[in-house]
Amino acid sequence: MITEEAVLQALRTVQDPGAGEDIVSLGLVQGMTVQDGRVSFTLQFTTQPAVAKAQIHSQARKVVAALAGVSDVKVAMGGGTQAAGRATHAEPPKEDLIPEVKHTIAVSSGKGGVGKSTVAVNLALALRETGARVGLVDVDVYGPDIPLMMGARGTPAMFNNRIIPVESYGIKLISIGFFVAPGEAIVWRGPMIHSAVQQFLRDVHWGELDYLIFDMPPGTGDAQLSLSQVIPLGGVVMVTTPQEVALLDVRKAVAMFKKLNVPILGIVENMSDFVCPHCGAHTPIFGEGGGAKIAREADVPVLAQIPIDPETRKGGDEGEPILVRKPDSAQAAAFRKLAAAVADRVSTLSVFTLPKIT
Ligand SMILES: Nc1ncnc2c1ncn2[C@@H]1O[C@H](COP(=O)(O)OP(=O)(O)O)[C@@H](O)[C@H]1O
Ligand SMILES: [Mg+2]
Repeated sequence: MITEEAVLQALRTVQDPGAGEDIVSLGLVQGMTVQDGRVSFTLQFTTQPAVAKAQIHSQARKVVAALAGVSDVKVAMGGGTQAAGRATHAEPPKEDLIPEVKHTIAVSSGKGGVGKSTVAVNLALALRETGARVGLVDVDVYGPDIPLMMGARGTPAMFNNRIIPVESYGIKLISIGFFVAPGEAIVWRGPMIHSAVQQFLRDVHWGELDYLIFDMPPGTGDAQLSLSQVIPLGGVVMVTTPQEVALLDVRKAVAMFKKLNVPILGIVENMSDFVCPHCGAHTPIFGEGGGAKIAREADVPVLAQIPIDPETRKGGDEGEPILVRKPDSAQAAAFRKLAAAVADRVSTLSVFTLPKIT
C-alpha cells in the first residue's frame, strides 16, 4: 500500500531549479490525498517562471507515477497568479523585451490542424534563405510541434542566466516542447501562458534578428492576448484551409487581431489544391475560394496558396521541412512566394505603423 509519506519521499527528489531546493521543503506540495493507489496533490507555486512550473509539474508527476502501488496521479497547478499580476503592472515598455529583433510576425488561425506550424517553419526557412536572421518561437503550448518538425532535439543551454535557443537549419528555436516530456498533458492557465510568453522573449538570448516568428496555438485565447500585450506584433499571418467550416474560425481570429490592433499581413490558403503526381489533374480536396473570400472580407491580400503535398507532410513528421527536403519543388517555391509577400507587407506596414522619431 502506498502511503503519503512514501509519495512525499519521492517528491523530495524534485528540485525547484530557481530556488535550488526540493519542492517538499519549499512547501510547494499541498492538499495531498492518497487513496487506493490514487494520488492527488496541488503544486502551490509562488513566483516561479512558467518554464520552471512546467518542468516541476512534469517531474513531480513522473516520480510519483513510477512508485510501486500508484495507479493514478493528479497534479494540479496552484498559486502564481499574484506574481503574474504584479509582473503585468511592472512590465517594461513593450519594445524593451526584445530590442534586437526587427520584425515580429505571428502565424495564427482559428483552428488546429490547418497547417500553422508547417507554414511557420517553412516561412522561417524561406526568409532565412534570403539572408535574413530568423528566430522561431513555439507558443503553441497545447501542441508544441516545432522541435519535431525542425528535427531539433535536446534542451536549450543556459548562459549568464539566459536561455540559449536551439539552432536547426540556421533558425533559432524556442519551444515549451524542449522543457516537458512528449505527450505530457499540462493544463495551461492564462497567467502561466502570459509568463511563458514573457520568458521566451526576455530570458532568451536571441541576438540580432530580422524576423522572429511565433507559431500560435489555435483559437482566440490567452496566448494571442498575452503576446500582443507583451510585444508590439508587427503583424499576423492567418492560415486557413479553403472550406467554409475553417472560415468561421478564421473570421473570429481576424476580428480579435483587429481589436488588438495587430495588422493582418494577409491570408495563407493552405491545402488549397492537390495536383496528382501521376496524371497532373488538379483536385480541390478542401474546396475552393475560401482564402480569397476571407481576404476580401478582411480587406487584406492572399499571400500564397499552398497545395496539399505528401512530401510536405512527411517532411513535418521526419523533421526535414520541405524547403530543406525538396528545395527545387513547386511546394518549396510556394513557400518562397509566401516569404516574399510577407517581407514586402512587413516592410510597407512598418513604415506606416512604427514611424522612427529621430
Ligand atoms: N500543404 C500541406 N500538404 C500536406 N500536408 C500538410 C500541409 N500542410 C500541413 N500538412 C500536414 O497537416 C498536419 C497538420 O499541420 P500542422 O502544421 O501541424 O497544423 P497546425 O499547426 O495548424 O495544427 C501535419 O501532419 C502537416 O504535416
Ligand atoms: Mg501546430
